Amino acid sequence: MNGVQHHLLLCATPTKALCGDPAVGAASWDRLKQLVRDLGLEDSARPRGVVLRTKADCLRVCCEGPVLLIWPEGITYGGVTPERIERIVREHVVGGVPIEEWIVRRTPFSRPLPPG
Ligand code: FES
Repeated sequence: MNGVQHHLLLCATPTKALCGDPAVGAASWDRLKQLVRDLGLEDSARPRGVVLRTKADCLRVCCEGPVLLIWPEGITYGGVTPERIERIVREHVVGGVPIEEWIVRRTPFSRPLPPG
């Protein structure tokens, strides 16, 4: 395995439904699963590493959902319909170019403190 390129977390069908229409979230999740499979992003031999996906309950954004958080960039997209998730996967995850107009939050990792 060549490591992990990205981890995608989708608040698709949250328990408290604070994050958009759960029917849209469920459809977006189905599309994401299909895309990851069809594009071979789960292939452990993929030179750029695998793309992991997780259906999360709540990502603490709770508006403009369904929301999709992508690590390691810490970029959260809002209004993630099946059509949007297709563009996000193709342009951001595969192409490396985030779609600025759909980004609702950026939460980069903090830098580790030096030892001592
Ligand atoms: S319910 Fe979706 S981020 Fe909280």
